[in-house]
Amino acid sequence: MVTVDQVMSSLKKVVDPELHKDIVSMGMVKDLAINDGKVAFTLELTTPACPFNSEIEQDVRNAIASIGETELNLKVTARVMEGRAISMDEILPGVKNIIAVASGKGGVGKTTVSVNLALTLAKTGAKVGLLDADVYGPSVPLMLGLKQTPQVTNNKIQPIISDGVKVISMGFFYEQSQQAGIYRGPIVSGIVKQFLTDVNWGDLDYLIIDLPPGTGDAPLTMAQTIPITGILIVTTPQEVAMNVAVKAIGMFNKLNVPIIGVIENMSHLECPNCQERIHIFGKGGGQRVSEKFNVPFVGEIPLHPQIMEGSDTGKPIILSEPGSIQANAFTNAAKTVAGRISVIAAELKALEEAETEGRPRNDTVSQTEPQNVPQS
Ligand SMILES: Nc1ncnc2c1ncn2[C@@H]1O[C@H](COP(=O)(O)OP(=O)(O)OP(=O)(O)O)[C@@H](O)[C@H]1O
Ligand SMILES: [Mg+2]
Repeated sequence: MVTVDQVMSSLKKVVDPELHKDIVSMGMVKDLAINDGKVAFTLELTTPACPFNSEIEQDVRNAIASIGETELNLKVTARVMEGRAISMDEILPGVKNIIAVASGKGGVGKTTVSVNLALTLAKTGAKVGLLDADVYGPSVPLMLGLKQTPQVTNNKIQPIISDGVKVISMGFFYEQSQQAGIYRGPIVSGIVKQFLTDVNWGDLDYLIIDLPPGTGDAPLTMAQTIPITGILIVTTPQEVAMNVAVKAIGMFNKLNVPIIGVIENMSHLECPNCQERIHIFGKGGGQRVSEKFNVPFVGEIPLHPQIMEGSDTGKPIILSEPGSIQANAFTNAAKTVAGRISVIAAELKALEEAETEGRPRNDTVSQTEPQNVPQS
């Protein structure tokens, strides 16, 4: 008859490909019960959007099968790990992870990426918020086709819910305030901070912040004051965009903000006739930037008229053409981001545990940490 020890030692051999730890040590095996030789437990994954979820599930089934003729009743769930330092908990205690989307240069597709990323994560079942921190030129309402004005109840601004994503943007308030975005740096970060503290975000797995472009005052102050899990850098393949992406990575490295990775937007054209990729602006730029600074490459998003039309008409590609090559590019990137967040969260947990046990911090420093930090 199969025993708990046999099951646990078999499951200990299943290693999460990203976290490089076995699922038992990670606490992913819950409610194990063995009745009449039948094994039942819950596998609790670190995110519903993990790119390796089905691989881990299959490894688990194989591990149980390896014990012998055993019936398995497996339930698979996901609980997103918290990737924010404990000391930051006073702001948004219900928000597990904050992902800031940044670029050195304007117009590279930050908002397009933020919106599609938010919608994709929400589709997997995660609780998602989207904060448009571009106070000067908020374009999230336009891209999601939102015209409502948020209500205020119990002194809290209620976000607008769009396809499962809680959204807030300065654009929602323009009509009321009758003014365009002409604010200076400190006011901008004040408004964004207010969006963090005065909006009823509730419990969220991921809050995505669409940062204003550049490495100027506003994104800098925000990165310093907002307790972020990590930054996602958006670039396009042109040399000039990559140079500013490098500058942005340097800035965030100096601020000790983890970099989730680099995503290359408008990467190539998918030729409709020959199924080949045409690299109009050059090839492999985003990949080179990520290799140079040892930060993950999150993915390539093709240049496609439907992506632009989706933004203009308020129906992002993830909703208008799900399953298309261009929508899948966003889906794959979102899964990589979610996986990377789990890694950052696991590293943070290990650091906190090391500190509690009085071990030096560098015991657990990850190999994915930037090796080559730019100086400017
Ligand atoms: N992959 C793509 N294919 C086609 N058009 C795209 C793609 N990505 C973005 N665009 C279009 O490029 C324009 C700029 O994109 P977006 O507004 O997302 O950039 P941004 O970095 O947020 O700009 P800003 O710096 O002004 O905030 C938009 O019209 C958008 O629809
Ligand atoms: Mg934008």
